Amino acid sequence: METMDMLAASDFLTAEQLEVRNAAREFAQKELWEGVIERDTNMQFPHAQIKKMGELGFLGMMVAPEFGGSGMDTVSYVLAMEEISKVDASAAVAMSVNNSLVCWGLEKYGNEAQKHKYLTPLASGEVLGAFCLSEPEAGSDATSQKTTAEDKGDYYLLNGTKNWITNGGNASTYLVIAQTNPELKHKGINVLIVEKGMSGFVVGKKEDKLGIRGSDTHSLMFTDVKVPKENRIGEDGFGFKFAMQTLNGGRIGIAAQALGIASGAYELSLKYAKERKSFGKPIAEHQAIQFKLAEMATKINAARLLTLQAARMKDAGMDYVNAAAQAKLFASEVAMETTVEAVQIHGGYGYVKEFHVERMMRDAKITQIYEGTSEIQKIVIAREVLR
Ligand code: CAA
Repeated sequence: METMDMLAASDFLTAEQLEVRNAAREFAQKELWEGVIERDTNMQFPHAQIKKMGELGFLGMMVAPEFGGSGMDTVSYVLAMEEISKVDASAAVAMSVNNSLVCWGLEKYGNEAQKHKYLTPLASGEVLGAFCLSEPEAGSDATSQKTTAEDKGDYYLLNGTKNWITNGGNASTYLVIAQTNPELKHKGINVLIVEKGMSGFVVGKKEDKLGIRGSDTHSLMFTDVKVPKENRIGEDGFGFKFAMQTLNGGRIGIAAQALGIASGAYELSLKYAKERKSFGKPIAEHQAIQFKLAEMATKINAARLLTLQAARMKDAGMDYVNAAAQAKLFASEVAMETTVEAVQIHGGYGYVKEFHVERMMRDAKITQIYEGTSEIQKIVIAREVLR
C-alpha cells in the first residue's frame, strides 16, 4: 500500500481533505501536464493555468470565504501543493507564495481596509501577490535590509532593490520589507503594501534559472516610491517579525512542494521500471532498482509525515516553527536525492527532457535554497531544540 493510501486507510485524513487532494490531482494531470516541458524550456509563465487555479480556489486556500478565500485548513493546502508540484513545480511556487507569503500575513495582521482592498482580490485569484524580502546583499541575513522606507509623515519614501522575487513580473500587490530606523536594527523594519504602477517602482530583469523556469523571478527597483502610511501592515517596526512569522508558514508550503517534486519523480520511476527491460526482464525485477525504489518510497513517506505534522500543528494553533523547519529541511533533501535517483533509474532517457525527471532534478534544487537555505533551517531547528 502506498503512503497516501495508508494515510487514507488509517483515517489520518478526512474525507474533505482527500477530496481536495483528488481535485488538485485531477487539475494537475488535466491542465498542467501538457506543455510543462515547453514552458520550462521557454521560461513561460503558466498564465492560463494560474487563472484556472484561482477560479478553483487554490490561490487563497486558507483565507476565510468573506475575503474571497476557500476557508480550508493547512493540511488541505499541503495535499493540494503536493499534487500540483508533482506535475509543475513552477505553477506550485506561484501558488505557494500567494497563499503562504502574501495572503496569510495580510489576513492575520492586515486591518479591515487592507483586507478588503488587497486580500480579497488576491485570495480569489483575481490578482497575484509577491513577497519581497531578499536583496542583493541580504538573503539569509535578513536583518541587513538596505532598502529604506523613510517616514515622511503621511507616507513612506521607499528606495532600494529586491532580488529573486517570485511572481515579480506578474504580481499586482507586493509586500515589501524595508528599513525605517537603522539604529533599531531589526526592530526598525517595516512591511509595506506596494502596488504595481506606483510611481518609481520598476520591475527589473527576469532571471534565467536552472529550474522552476516557468515561474516568474525578477529583481525589483524602488526609487522614491511614495507609499501611503495606511499601507503599512501592523505597528511601526513590526516588519521583521512579520517576515519571520510569514516564512515559518511558507516553509510548510515549500516542504510540500519538495515532497511533490520527489513523489512525481518516484511515480515516473516506478512506472518506467516496470516497462523498461534489460537483461531479459523488467528493470524493476533487478535488486539494484528495487533498493532504489524502496529507499525513495521510505524517504518520501517520512517527508510527507513531517510535512503533514507541521501543517496539523499550525491548524491546531500550536508552535510550529521547529516542525516547519524540519519538514522543509528534510523534504528538500529528499527531493534532491530522489530526483537524482530517478534520473539514474531512467538511464540515458533520464538525461533528456522528454522523460520529465531531468526537469524535476533541476526544480528540486531550489527547495534547498528559497524561504531559507538548508543551513538556515538547521539554525532555526538548533535554536528551538537548545531553547
Ligand atoms: N519565527 C518568529 N520570530 C523569529 C524567527 C522565527 N522563525 N526567527 C527570528 N525571529 C525573531 C526573534 O525572536 C527576534 O525577535 P526579538 O528581537 O523580539 O527577540 C527577531 O526575530 C530577530 O531574531 P534574531 O536575532 O534571531 O535574528 P538573526 O539575524 O540572528 O536571524 C534568521 C535569524 C533565522 C537567520 C533569519 O534571518 C532568517 O530566517 N533568515 C532567512 C530568511 C529567508 O528565509 N529568506 C528567504 C527569502 S523569501 C523567499 O525565498 C520567497 C520566495 O520568493 C519563494
